[in-house]
Amino acid sequence: MDAKSAPFYITTPIYYVNGKPHIGHAYTTIAADVAARYHRLMGRDVRFLTGTDEHGQKVFEKAKERSMAPREHCDDMVTHWKAAWTRLDVTCDRFIRTTDEDHQALVTAALNKLYAEDLIYRDEYEGWYSVADEVFVTDKEVDEGRSTDDLERITEANYFFKMSNYKEALLQHIEAHPTYIQPRSRRNEVLGFLKKDLGDLCISRPKARMSWGIELPFDDGFVTYVWFDALLNYLTGAGVTPSDLSTAGSAGTAWPADHCLIGKDILTTHAVYFSTMLLALGVALPKNLFAHGWWTSTDGEKISKSKGNAISVDLLVEEFGVDATRFFLMREIKFGSDGGFSYAGFLSRYNSDLANDFGNLSHRAITMATRWHGSVPVCGALTPTEEALHTLAAEVVAQTDAAINALDFQGAIMSTWRLIVAGNKYVEETAPWGLNKRGETERLGTVIRHVLELVYLAAGLLSPVMPNKSSELMSKFGTPVTPQDMLRGFAAGQSPLNALQDNASVTLGEPLFPRFQELPAAISGLFEAKVEKASKTKQPKQASKKKAQEKAKVEPIEFADFMKVQLRSGK
Ligand code: ME8
Ligand code: MG
Repeated sequence: MDAKSAPFYITTPIYYVNGKPHIGHAYTTIAADVAARYHRLMGRDVRFLTGTDEHGQKVFEKAKERSMAPREHCDDMVTHWKAAWTRLDVTCDRFIRTTDEDHQALVTAALNKLYAEDLIYRDEYEGWYSVADEVFVTDKEVDEGRSTDDLERITEANYFFKMSNYKEALLQHIEAHPTYIQPRSRRNEVLGFLKKDLGDLCISRPKARMSWGIELPFDDGFVTYVWFDALLNYLTGAGVTPSDLSTAGSAGTAWPADHCLIGKDILTTHAVYFSTMLLALGVALPKNLFAHGWWTSTDGEKISKSKGNAISVDLLVEEFGVDATRFFLMREIKFGSDGGFSYAGFLSRYNSDLANDFGNLSHRAITMATRWHGSVPVCGALTPTEEALHTLAAEVVAQTDAAINALDFQGAIMSTWRLIVAGNKYVEETAPWGLNKRGETERLGTVIRHVLELVYLAAGLLSPVMPNKSSELMSKFGTPVTPQDMLRGFAAGQSPLNALQDNASVTLGEPLFPRFQELPAAISGLFEAKVEKASKTKQPKQASKKKAQEKAKVEPIEFADFMKVQLRSGK
């Protein structure tokens, strides 16, 4: 990759510091991390931005509740966010806070520019405000059925950005760039929103009411509306400076972003507010806004700080490990769709995919190599079966690449699973234990080599999702090749199943993903897990008694028999 080519720039929302991170925040951030890691592996210059949204009424009120100064409250809360991303192995290049000086300077410059160009004016605001979402709600929305239970009535002088001027330009941009807003359903939602009248955007709050924010440069009686401030973080994080803004240039910075990842809850603020702000500033729009779906609880409600149904990521990490947690979030639901979280679902995904499929193949590969050969065998003549594996591997590599580029993380993982499934089938079909018994050494070597290569490739492709387990696994193969070298090798046209070094020593080590017979006690004791279980036992289940009997019968088996066993778990 040309070093001068534009960096791959990916962002997450910046999260409010009125609470601690939960699984929903982890979801977006891990998704961005997987994409960032993948593109780094492919040799691209990557910028990955995440951070915290620290101004506004919600944070202001939270600080008051804790009898702390807002800044003191933010400084305290931000430690939880940073710690969570460290724990989850999130490799952001910058963690931005909206209280950072360079960001405040950029917001000030943007306001000055729009004010000087007459794109900001002063007027009375009368309407509703949602503190939870930090958005103004029009009377029309209330007439159309928006409940006012959680809203505050506001009558105050304010400053407005002439957002309505840019409605046509935005529509044209969306038409001309079909993948600007994804998935398609969200694009349609925005187009629908723009069919209605688009008003101007209130971009201030009087200090007398709410003083926690960036002061307006042209009126010190006001602070900047939190969304106008927050959305510009993507520019600050890209290295755009106040002087870039005055020339409307972003050359030499990471802007425009390749992907801004958001949840569907904040689609309008990004697709409409942010886009029109950029049009007014004369700055390029991001290449893509991707609004993913929501994790919901077992009762179908969105998991959120305010609803108190948050799932603790810490607990999942503690009990199942970082990699399994990242894997589950990326594998379980399609990026863009909603999905229900359940501990039982977590357990069954872990056992079937990680302990069984992947764990089984890895263990088979390494056990065969260490027991029957001692090192990475040299490959003998290929049969059509191996040739088919090479074809499959090349297909999988291309498919994974396409899936990651489309932010289809589930699809990327599922394509790697084609390798794993094929690998397990290959072992059964070639029956290496028989080859060993009959002393067919060359053929046995070829088979073992292919199983090792399959596992090594799968580990490389999964490394953006499961960085620790992948490198642990890859390090057992005695080949000083990193996933980076390996994946770059594909780009250079090497066979994906030709990464290992002949005769390198293979180490057995511990199984990667030990099986869980049941939920760990720390989880099964949780209120949520009990509710889940209660709602499940209402359904008839005939298999359970038989399963329990089978479980009781388990006896140690011979190694050669173990090799023939294909572990599976049912849901
Ligand atoms: O909205 N499922 O911050 P926020 C999936 N500060 N994703 C979820 C989720 C769930 N149940 N719950 C939260 C804000 N998220 C603003 C953003 S950006 C310039 C300013 C994720 O703390 C998802 O990414 O409310 C969602 O958009 C974000 O957290 C909202 O975080
Ligand atoms: Mg929110």
